[in-house]
Formats: sequence, structure tokens, C-alpha cells
Amino acid sequence: MRLTDNEIEAIAQKIVAKTPSSGRRPIVVGNWKMHKTPSEGEALVRELAALVETADCEIGVAPAYPCLGQVGRALGGSKISLCAQNAYWEKAGAFTGEVAIGMLTELGVSQVIIGHSERRQFFGETDETVNLRAKAVLEAGLVPILCVGESLQERDSGLTHAVVDRQVRGGLADLSGSQVAGMVLAYEPVWAIGTGKVATVEEAQEVHSVIRQLLAELHDAPTAGAVRIQYGGSVKPDNAAQLLAQPDIDGALVGGAALKATDFAAICMAAKAE
Ligand code: PGA
Repeated sequence: MRLTDNEIEAIAQKIVAKTPSSGRRPIVVGNWKMHKTPSEGEALVRELAALVETADCEIGVAPAYPCLGQVGRALGGSKISLCAQNAYWEKAGAFTGEVAIGMLTELGVSQVIIGHSERRQFFGETDETVNLRAKAVLEAGLVPILCVGESLQERDSGLTHAVVDRQVRGGLADLSGSQVAGMVLAYEPVWAIGTGKVATVEEAQEVHSVIRQLLAELHDAPTAGAVRIQYGGSVKPDNAAQLLAQPDIDGALVGGAALKATDFAAICMAAKAE
């Protein structure tokens, strides 16, 4: 029996419809870096909250430490969660310039970015210190957003997979499968951050799938399947939908475009739960 083109198409549609969805809810986080004063941050989230009311994803904003209180109060009742850009692993003590996780939880912070490439590049973060931070954030019951990614030189030397492998293994060292399953990872190629150069969807998806395979190797397939992996690096309203449609891209970590409510909202609206 020969099937007509229409019959083949109908069967193909059924197969696609039956493919189990990943069950991973997309998560889009705005990393404000060292931008916005407390009052500017408050104005930004007030505008943003109204724009993302119907977004079908998890949304967070990560203002600088001094803005967390005011921005957190302005977020009250909205669907946007409060994230910090870093946190120290000790609970208290003589650590001038550092911020303890307990100080963040009291302000309503629920996620903490750790190991951002700017921390690694300019502030001496290593896989070991990133791992200490990840453990402390998890112990406090918050969600770490662990950033990894290669530099341009590393990519040009064919080292992308090796670098990401080292950073994921190092950052997750000694963590249990259930701890890892609750984390968010962010793949951010350093050469794409703030440069306007975005990885192609194929390049991004490829590294995301390599990371997920590594998680399966380090733990197991259900753990790897549960971890949400964001893409970061020049995500904008005009490239977000394509990136977010990739099977292993579960959200975005957004820098520059997160500073404008309409741009960030457009990216959030492009992320859809399966
Ligand atoms: P960008 O920054 O969107 O401005 O490239 C992303 C990031 O550093 O998290």
C-alpha cells in the first residue's frame, strides 16, 4: 500500500504531537549588571510587571544589591521574582564588600546568579569559588543560576566543549542529583555578551545539548532532563523566539535588553511553556 503525501503529513503531525514535552518551564532573567539606581529600578519593574502579565514563563530580574529592597517591594504581587547577581558562601563575618545569602533571603531574593563571566574575568572567580557559592545558595533553599561559557579565543581554538565541560563539572562538584535538578544553568558564550554578536541557533543548541549530555553522565537522564539551561549573550526581541524554540534552550539570561521594559517584555513573551 502506498500512502499519499497528505496521509504521510497526517501521520507526521501525530508523531510530533505525541513527542513528550520536556516539562521544563522556560525561565527568562534580566541581569541588570551595574545599571539602574533603586528608583530607576523601581520604575522599570513597575512598567515591566504590567507588560508581562500574560507571559507563559518564569521571569526574574537581578538588580544590583542596593536596589534589591526597593525593587523587591515594587514587585510585590507580580509574577516577577527577585534575583541577586552574586552571593558569598559564608554566613557572616569579616568579609568586607561581600553579601551573605541570609541578607538576600530577607529581601525576598529567590535566585542567585553565580559564576557570571564578568565575575570570572574581572573579579577572580574560579570554578572552586563558583562551586562554594552554588552549595551555599542551595543550602539556603534558593536557586543558583550557574553561568558557563567560552571566550572567543577558546572557541577559535576548538576548546568550547572542553571549557564548558570543565566549568560545569567544577561548578557542580559534590552536588547531588536532586540539588542539580533544581538548578538553572546559563550558557553564555563570552564573545556574545554585550557585543551584539549572538551565537547562531545551531551553535547555541549544540552546546546546550552537550551540557545536557554531561549532566546525564554526571547524574542521570531524569536529572539532565529536569535542569533548565538558559542561553545568554545579546538576546534581543528579534532573535529570542528562534533561540527559545530550540529543544535544549529553556530560557534566556538577558543583559542589555533587560534595561528597557518593552524589549525585556518582548523576550519574555517569546518564551512559551510547552
Ligand atoms: P547581554 O548580556 O544580553 O548584554 O549580552 C548577557 C549577560 O551578560 O548575562
